[in-house]
This record gives sequence, C-alpha cells and structure tokens, in this order.
Amino acid sequence: MTMPQVSIVVPTYNEAANIPMIYDGLAQALAGRAWELVVVDDDSPDGTADAVRELGRRHGNVRCIQRVQARGLASAVHWGVQAAHGEAVVVMDGDLQHEPALIPKMLDALQAGHDIVSGSRFLEGAAEKGLSRRRRRLSDYGNRLTNYFLGTALSDPLTGFFATSRRLFLESIPLMQADGFKIFFDLVYHNRRVTIRELPFEFQSRRHGESKFQLYVLWLLACDIASKLSRGMLPPRLISFVGVGLIGSIFHFAVLYASMDLGAVFWLAQAIATVVAMVFNFTINNVLTYSDDRLRGAAFYKGLLLYSLIASVGIVANVSTAQIAYMRLHGHTFIAATTGLVIDVIWRFVVSNRLIWGGSSILRKAH
Ligand code: GDD
Ligand code: MN
Repeated sequence: MTMPQVSIVVPTYNEAANIPMIYDGLAQALAGRAWELVVVDDDSPDGTADAVRELGRRHGNVRCIQRVQARGLASAVHWGVQAAHGEAVVVMDGDLQHEPALIPKMLDALQAGHDIVSGSRFLEGAAEKGLSRRRRRLSDYGNRLTNYFLGTALSDPLTGFFATSRRLFLESIPLMQADGFKIFFDLVYHNRRVTIRELPFEFQSRRHGESKFQLYVLWLLACDIASKLSRGMLPPRLISFVGVGLIGSIFHFAVLYASMDLGAVFWLAQAIATVVAMVFNFTINNVLTYSDDRLRGAAFYKGLLLYSLIASVGIVANVSTAQIAYMRLHGHTFIAATTGLVIDVIWRFVVSNRLIWGGSSILRKAH
C-alpha cells in the first residue's frame, strides 16, 4: 500500500450501520488518491468496532482504534490524528451527515495555501436538511457566542467537518481541550493567525442512530469559553460543576424559606433544603457536566448515594475549615465561609470526578 496522503479521521459512537456506507462514499470521492480511514470508536455497544475491522479485512486502508477505557469526542479525534499517516487530515462525523464529495475541494484549498478548511452548514450555497428549527436556533446562539469570543466571522464555527495538515493539528493537541467536543472551535482558537477557508456543503439528515447534540451543548460551550478566559487554569468541567452548584444553592434557599413558611423549624427546613439541593446538584451534573458519561438506571441511584456520602464528608470538611478560618481571622464571616465552601466544592468535584463519573468510575461496570 502506498503511504496515504490524506487520513480521514472519524470518531464513532454507535455508528455500525453507517460505516460501510461512509467507506463507499469516501472511495468514490477520493478515487485516484492515496487515502486511509481511521475510525476511533469508544467501545460502542452496537459493535461499530467489529464493523470497522470487518471492513479492514477487505480494504487495507481502514483501521479501527477501539478505546475500551477512554471516552469523549474531542479526545477520540485527537487519538485519530495521532495515529494518522497522511500529510493532511480530515475530521468528519460517522453518521453520513458530512458529504465526502467536499473532501477533494477541501484538499484543493489546503493545497492552495489555506491552513484550515472547514465545511460550513450555513454559508451561502449550503443547504441544511439535517437541522431541525430548534437545533438551528441553538446553533445560532452558539455561533454568535463563539465568533464573538474568537473575533472571527465564521458562518459555522461549531462544524464537525474540517481539514488541516497533520503537523498543524499535532502541534495544537497539547494546547487543546481533551474533554471538550468543539474540536474545530478549539483548533481555531489556538491557531488564530492562520488562514481559514470555509466551504459550503449540504448537511444531510442522519440515516441511522441518533444525534448526540442537544441543549447541554450550549452550556458546555459557555463553560469551555469560561475555561479559555481563565487561560485553562479552571477546567470546563469544574466551571460547570460550580455553576450547577450555584444554581443548586438558589434552590437550597428557595426550599429553605418555603419549608419555614410552611411551618418547619429551622433545622428541619435546612435538612430538607440540603437533601433537595444535593439531589438537584447530582441530577443536573449528571446531565450537564457529565453529559458524555451520563449514569442511567441502577448506576444513577448508586451514584446518587455515593454522591450524598461524598457531599456529607465535604460538609464536615467545609464546616471545620470554616470554623478554623473563622477563629484565625477573628470573625471575618465572609472569608471564613467562602474558604469552607471552596474546600467543599473542590473536594466534591475531585472525588466525584474520579469515583462517580469518568474513566475511573467505580460505577462503570454497572452501566
Ligand atoms: N469516539 C466517540 N466518542 N465518538 C463520538 C462520541 C464520543 O463520545 N460522541 C459522538 N461521537 C461521534 C458520533 O458517532 C458521530 O460520528 C460524531 O461523533 C458526531 O456526533 P453526532 O451525534 O453525529 O453529532 P451531531 O451531528 O449531533 O453534531 C454535529 O454538529 C456539532 C455542532 O453543531 C457534529 O458535526 C459535531 O461534531 C459538531 O460539533
Ligand atoms: Mn452528526
């Protein structure tokens, strides 16, 4: 096999039925070129990895990276780029929403000197069959937010279809967010001086399986931007976690006052509010902060129990630290209380990030 000039990197989660069609589309669009397909699959239960290997038995230019432990869209793409052989890399969805016919045009634009070339769903000339009105509106908000932040005027800064040189991508990976999902946005953010070219394409409706893009994506985008504003010091997940915690504390006070209005004594009202806020925080974090690793069924309830345990330990640490700070600072209530809260949040984040969600979760086998 000749060395491929271009590597098509496709992250997949439950795309088994789409894989052979993607291959055919690519073979047709890239006829005459040396190309390869690198699929990075997060151990999809529908057997996507097997489908790719099956394809690989028939075609020498197909490889599968089956990730048994690692998870997440961005890191999947990074792994694919790190395994790529081609001088150019193209990232595309594994659900047939991105048309392979655009790839030769992308490669031409790279040839012509553009550093990054993207497929835009919204550029003049593009048609979007694949977006519902609600999704279109979500995308609109996301676009405005990202363009404002990047200082660009891209018609589709959140596209998942783009091409660049392997070298540029590899150099950017250490700077990029491994647990994000806006890979193109992240790449552009770290390469603001390079030339970017958008090409219109027709965004197809999904043939099989379901889209993973929902409202939470906008929330994660905001957290991602906040993280970049902190120069990466605060990870997006921590920001999301704290954000959920803040909303949770509003809930806490609402329930506290409501219970007291209904005649509950303070300690009881506080206890009810604490439990309600805890369940709220856990449930919302499960959907927003850890949307890519959501616990379901029995694992959800086990997670909730574990989270409550972790949170109780956090409350003890919080109150004792706050008390020590309070005595040392001779009664600076605000600073003492904040110190306790910060300790509490960090404790809860670090421990639940390790034990409840993510690659090292002890509930992992249960879901
Ligand atoms: N390995 C891996 N791990 N692949 C994933 C994961 C994951 O956690 N989540 C999603 N994928 C794969 C899907 O199987 C699909 O091939 C591709 O990544 C994109 O996911 P979709 O579920 O098809 O996303 P979408 O079509 O709703 O979202 C599109 O628009 C977004 C912005 O509007 C995509 O183009 C996204 O890349 C894009 O950010
Ligand atoms: Mn898609």
